[in-house]
Amino acid sequence: MPKFEYAPAPESRSVVDLKSSYGLFINGEFVDGSGTSFKSISPATEEVLAEVSAASEADVDAAVKAARTAYTRVWSKMSGADRGKYLYRIARILQERAREFAVLETLDNGKPIKESRDVDIPLAAAHFFYNAGWADKLGYAALPGGANPQPHGVVGQIIPWNFPMLMLAWKIAPALATGNTVVLKPAETTPLTALLFAEVCQQADLPPGVVNIVTGAGPTGQAIVDHPGIDKLAFTGSTGVGKMIARAISGTRKKATLELGGKAANIVFDDAAIDQAVEGIVTGIFFNQGHVCCAGSRLLVQETIADEVESRLKRRLETLRVGDPLDKNTDVGAINSKAQLDRIIALTDAGEGEGAVRWDNGCELPSKGFWFRPTVFTGVTQTHRIAQEEIFGPVLSVLTFRTPQEAVAKANNTPYGLSAGIWTEKGSRILWMADQLKAGVVWANTFNQFDPTSPFGGYKESGYGREGGRHGLEAYVKGTQS
Ligand code: NAI
Ligand code: MG
Repeated sequence: MPKFEYAPAPESRSVVDLKSSYGLFINGEFVDGSGTSFKSISPATEEVLAEVSAASEADVDAAVKAARTAYTRVWSKMSGADRGKYLYRIARILQERAREFAVLETLDNGKPIKESRDVDIPLAAAHFFYNAGWADKLGYAALPGGANPQPHGVVGQIIPWNFPMLMLAWKIAPALATGNTVVLKPAETTPLTALLFAEVCQQADLPPGVVNIVTGAGPTGQAIVDHPGIDKLAFTGSTGVGKMIARAISGTRKKATLELGGKAANIVFDDAAIDQAVEGIVTGIFFNQGHVCCAGSRLLVQETIADEVESRLKRRLETLRVGDPLDKNTDVGAINSKAQLDRIIALTDAGEGEGAVRWDNGCELPSKGFWFRPTVFTGVTQTHRIAQEEIFGPVLSVLTFRTPQEAVAKANNTPYGLSAGIWTEKGSRILWMADQLKAGVVWANTFNQFDPTSPFGGYKESGYGREGGRHGLEAYVKGTQS
């Protein structure tokens, strides 16, 4: 296949007004943190973008107290219709400032601008619009509490680095719609859009203390988890930290929702439209550099078409453009951090060591920053680490099957249960498979589609609780397990 040369098409970064340092956002104001500050870099260039405060236990305490005061004095007394007005206002400001958010997200995270511009930021705004609509209709949402569902109070929210603004929206929008106030901690490698969101809260005249943003690493997160003034926790991140949180709150009154890892099967039957399936495989694992909890990281392909799918897939992967995330033509950006790159390298080395066959698209990589070529492993067996463990990178493991029963058995042979994909022209097979698969989300003839009206969440070690849709509100009112 001929490869096209593309002239550079960089998005201008002048729309972003980066400060050299940022404080914490507590009680509606930016304040200096008392911990040791840290730097956030661009993973595509290793350029330092800004210095950011690390919140100490005392800072977290101040944030929780501000959230409590705002909850008791203002937010819990406000009507749902008035809370909704603030959420609509935030949603509209996110749309107005979408380009600024997209460029900053791409700088801080390394993801392609076409994804931050077309997916992350529009979806984040959509979550605020969607939840704004619920704020005055909660009595009709069939929530625990019936006509008068009650918020938990102060919610601690800890989010990861793969979709910084989108995860912030998933967490903050339903919490505020239901009348809670929040203390949110973004991930240490991607704190900048959360801090820009703090400016949006000021611009929207959100009452001080309703949203508090504390930056920092694991210890700051731990201080939120352990704080006695927190009523409920919402976490997205690794299964290891999720388990620690579950242990830390057992025996306390704190509720928690946990959205953890995944090892999704993307299952292609021999009657599928193959070119369409190949596009879905690419979206499934190479979208966002594979830093996606619901990524289709295991391709299960029916044996009779395995060779054809493999050759068409490799041909397609050779056309992927890897490089400058700010270039509008880029398909695959930078790996988010050196630590994540090291994890991907260790697991792919293990794949080769265990006997799987490694292939990558051979593209040139920039000399600075953190990069990994789109990679496919064939000859993978179920016991290989690359078939069991979450790689969280642009790496696909290919396995084959002969019958639908075998596909189900292999797909479910994982400690996770977050998502799955099915490619077939038979509607009856889609329904049968969806019923058999132990996964919270099952896509049919598509993959990685998200919408604020649709609940998302996992089974088994992928965590518990749902985010999005009416179900996503449940976690933020009293009377549920989570
Ligand atoms: P992580 O779980 O350490 O980070 C997620 C968030 O938790 C960050 O904000 C972090 O600061 C915070 N955190 C870390 N330790 C904490 C603690 N003891 N108490 C409270 N909060 C804490 O994930 P990490 O190390 O960045 O990535 C490791 C692996 O986790 C990845 O390779 C991937 O497999 C998985 N992961 C899954 C995500 C998902 O969307 N489900 C997101 C990020 C990572
Ligand atoms: Mg960064």
